[in-house]
Amino acid sequence: MYTEKVMDHFENPRNVGEIADASGVGTVGNAKCGDIMRIYLDVDDNQIIRDVKFKTFGCGAAVATSSMATELVKGKSVQEALLVSNKAVMEALDGLPPVKVHCSLLAEEAIHAALWDYAEKHDIKIEGLLKPKLDIHEEEEEENEY
Ligand code: FES
Repeated sequence: MYTEKVMDHFENPRNVGEIADASGVGTVGNAKCGDIMRIYLDVDDNQIIRDVKFKTFGCGAAVATSSMATELVKGKSVQEALLVSNKAVMEALDGLPPVKVHCSLLAEEAIHAALWDYAEKHDIKIEGLLKPKLDIHEEEEEENEY
């Protein structure tokens, strides 16, 4: 039921770890399943994401989507990173089972939270970035409506 890419990113997750003195750190959780995700960004002076790491206390799909999400934002500008949606992550993984779609929201929201933290610390504005939710459970309910 999981694609090969999901299994690969679950078994060999990319970019696991932490970044000391990260430019931005974002932590989000899902109160319903209890899973937690933290993303660290290292952003250079040109607002390019030089490095990214993640840590998760979450299910296999959360690990795989976070791994892919970090691969997709690495090397991008902070503005471009904002466009890496959970749908883009799922497409890059060749899909997720419907009951696991909500797990991909953790990665997207954790990236947004880390971008928000970066923007606040450096006093910059990232166009289109909304204040992240610390608990994505609400958003998940909306996603489940269709
Ligand atoms: Fe909680 Fe997957 S079940 S993130």
